[in-house]
Amino acid sequence: METQTITWPIKTREYLNHHFDSTIWNDFTFRADDIVIATYAKSGTTWLQQIVSQLIFKGQEGLEVADMSPWLDLRVPAKEVKLPAVEAMQHRRFIKTHLPVDALVFSPKAKYIYIGRDGRDVVWSMYNHHANANEFWYQALNETPGRVGPPIEKPVDSIVSYYHDWLEKDGFPFWSFWENIKSWWEIRQLPNVLLLHYGKLKEDMAGEIQKIADFLDITIDPSQWEAILTHCSFDYMKQHASKSVPLGGAFWDGGSQTFIHKGVNGRWKDILSQEDSERYERMAEEKLGKECAQWLNNNGY
Ligand code: A3P
Repeated sequence: METQTITWPIKTREYLNHHFDSTIWNDFTFRADDIVIATYAKSGTTWLQQIVSQLIFKGQEGLEVADMSPWLDLRVPAKEVKLPAVEAMQHRRFIKTHLPVDALVFSPKAKYIYIGRDGRDVVWSMYNHHANANEFWYQALNETPGRVGPPIEKPVDSIVSYYHDWLEKDGFPFWSFWENIKSWWEIRQLPNVLLLHYGKLKEDMAGEIQKIADFLDITIDPSQWEAILTHCSFDYMKQHASKSVPLGGAFWDGGSQTFIHKGVNGRWKDILSQEDSERYERMAEEKLGKECAQWLNNNGY
């Protein structure tokens, strides 16, 4: 694809809520080798950050990945604090975002990796994240100046009711799911975008890591493979969760191990009724189109 003929995404709006401040991207200065890790949420962001850190640092142990890879559009701490810290980074940067493409400033020189996950798995992961959030989480999101819109409240007691609300109110109480997935799906052909799926990453982690390395122009020395695979495995990440989870897990009862929770898909299968599950599938097709819905609900195939 010739660079001149590419139509690059353009920012068309700001996205602000209890979590987001998309305006930070307006003041962010890109470097030619920047990597942006994007997901809706609860879709393998932290796993991908770990993988990218392992590729950049060649299997090194003990990296403080959460500090090295900040969630740029999270509105706390404020951009006045976050931007200088990101500017001061000496290593190849890998920045996390949960924004849809049209609320980002998209750079032709950066590389973007997006990871998707079946919405039903996302809700199961999100419920655990939300139900175990402690008072520091609520304070940070609701009471730090600059919040736009209503506060985030405690979740309902039942995961099925939580799922219903999330589906009926598109991502409630977080942000729209369908527009996030669709916006990234639509730019998947760009030369600096790589689309991944949580299910496929679980199935073939080594193959997907190689794909990520190729995309980032990183060569993996054969002697590094064992360390990389160990450090990206679920068991290792759970054991060392405080390194990769934001603030070492201070926002959750049970700490960082609450965040790196089960690491498996399909936990909704025995709990959701067939009707509830099929409603999700119908909505996915309606909101995303057949091809994207198939990709999302079928582990990226
Ligand atoms: P579960 O809550 O289903 O266990 P995010 O980082 O986007 O918030 O996603 C969190 C989800 O990714 C959690 O899912 C977490 O357990 C899972 N995860 C983190 N590291 C993983 C790994 N190495 N392998 C598989 N899943 C992982």
